[in-house]
Amino acid sequence: DFFAGVKFDLKGKKILVTAGPTYEPIDPVRFIGNWSSGKMGFEIAKASVHRGADVILISGPTYLNTPKNVKRIDVVTSDEMFDAVVKFYNEVDVVIMSAAVADYAPAQRFEKKLKKEDLPEGMLELKLKKTKDILKYLGDNKRNQILVGFALETDNAFENAIQKLKQKNLDFIVLNTLGEGSGFGCDTNIVTIISKDGKVESLPKMTKYEVAHKILDKVSQMFNKGEA
Ligand code: CTP
Ligand code: CA
Repeated sequence: DFFAGVKFDLKGKKILVTAGPTYEPIDPVRFIGNWSSGKMGFEIAKASVHRGADVILISGPTYLNTPKNVKRIDVVTSDEMFDAVVKFYNEVDVVIMSAAVADYAPAQRFEKKLKKEDLPEGMLELKLKKTKDILKYLGDNKRNQILVGFALETDNAFENAIQKLKQKNLDFIVLNTLGEGSGFGCDTNIVTIISKDGKVESLPKMTKYEVAHKILDKVSQMFNKGEA
């Protein structure tokens, strides 16, 4: 039986999960995006439901099916994701920010499709502006929610992740490694969970669904210890 051994330890808790990439439009037919598949966030949403939580999943563009009993809200841009997350922030107990939010968006959105012949030869220059840091905003406006971030790094991974944990006022951060059996589009992941109290847990390669449960174990422990 699938549910054998699964405790409903998150019953009565409201969990907001973000997933997938954001797309930042250049003109009506083009955008700036990234390689996030959304799988990690969707598995977190699914695992949260399996443990009895009420789940809101705010997703960027993906081709994934909505897990059963999840309230899904689709967004496209980082601005839309910001608005959707902020709207629900005060009514949830946990936010797990697994979305790969764009850091920069075109400063100007062209109303009509850019045509090759109208552009200078050889190069197109686009001006980009910084997007809002959703998780930083949540950290700055935290009441008693548990805040979980992700970090994807290629170098100085550990130091960078700890810096993000502190700057964004997180309870813990899930550090992703890029490589075989891990990262974009994979069904498995290799992660290290770093807590604000300095605890570090390096996990072996496991499915994203299993990683999701590890993350939820940590959330559950925090509730039990009365830390949230
Ligand atoms: N994040 C966010 N809003 C943004 C950018 C990132 O909420 N505009 C969140 C991500 O969802 C993730 C965490 O912040 O949970 C860390 O994202 P990451 O891209 O690793 O770090 P950044 O702070 O964006 O810094 P950089 O990309 O320069 O490493
Ligand atoms: Ca980023």
